Amino acid sequence: MKGVILAGGLGTRLRPLTLVTNKHLLPIFDRPMIYYPIQCLLNAGITEIIIVTGGEHAGDFLKLLKNGKQLGIHHLEYAYQEGEGGIAEALKLAEDFADGGKVCVILGDNIIERNIRKAAGDFFTQSSGAKIMLKEVPDPERFGVARLDGDKVVEIIEKPDDPSTNLAVTGIYFYDNDVFEICQTLEPSGRGELEITDVNNAYLKRGDLTCEVVEGWWTDAGTFESLHRASGFVAEGGANLID
Ligand code: DAU
Repeated sequence: MKGVILAGGLGTRLRPLTLVTNKHLLPIFDRPMIYYPIQCLLNAGITEIIIVTGGEHAGDFLKLLKNGKQLGIHHLEYAYQEGEGGIAEALKLAEDFADGGKVCVILGDNIIERNIRKAAGDFFTQSSGAKIMLKEVPDPERFGVARLDGDKVVEIIEKPDDPSTNLAVTGIYFYDNDVFEICQTLEPSGRGELEITDVNNAYLKRGDLTCEVVEGWWTDAGTFESLHRASGFVAEGGANLID
């Protein structure tokens, strides 16, 4: 399985920091943000990776990561997203790289304490469809929110005003290759983006969506509060722990 890191968008919520560099190169404690999703994939045994990025500072990724060998990446590719048309639009750019196979997709601003090895293994044996990773949070209205019946997802709503649960859909997703066909069918949302929640809902409709809960802490880092929180979490106990 190959890995896709989505690190596009303009990071407007982190201005003025993002006027001079890409959001995903900002520091989380002692490392650039992008190191964490990379390590998350490597820990799951995923060593062929594409980074989709955009904006004025996209070239900075190459300066930092080069060909990725020093981080343990076997094969590193880059793709450039024009504008910020949404997470699912960025994902479309990974179609050739995926080459007909399954992908593990992680948002470039998502950081976890532990690892996704079990979920990756489970998805490897899942014959088709998608798997999403969930986490209980105190502020679900900031995220895609899932409602479960037993261990089955029955509803996902993007940033609901009045969330029915506190289960956030994290930015870690596993998809079969149909995801690229599904992305082609999407219409822009009210905020003008192709939404990853619409992709997940398409799999839900097919009855081909599984879920697991992220172990340990999980956070995004796209706002000043979450950027600060992420640095605190990492400073206290580290991230991407294997055991
Ligand atoms: O962090 C998890 C959440 O991420 C999910 O719960 C939501 O369902 C999902 O929509 C997303 O919500 P956000 O509003 O936090 O997404 P944001 O626009 O901050 O983008 C998150 C990352 O996705 C960003 O760091 C880079 C990538 N991205 C985003 C956009 C809009 C792209 O690569 N291209 C884009 O055009």
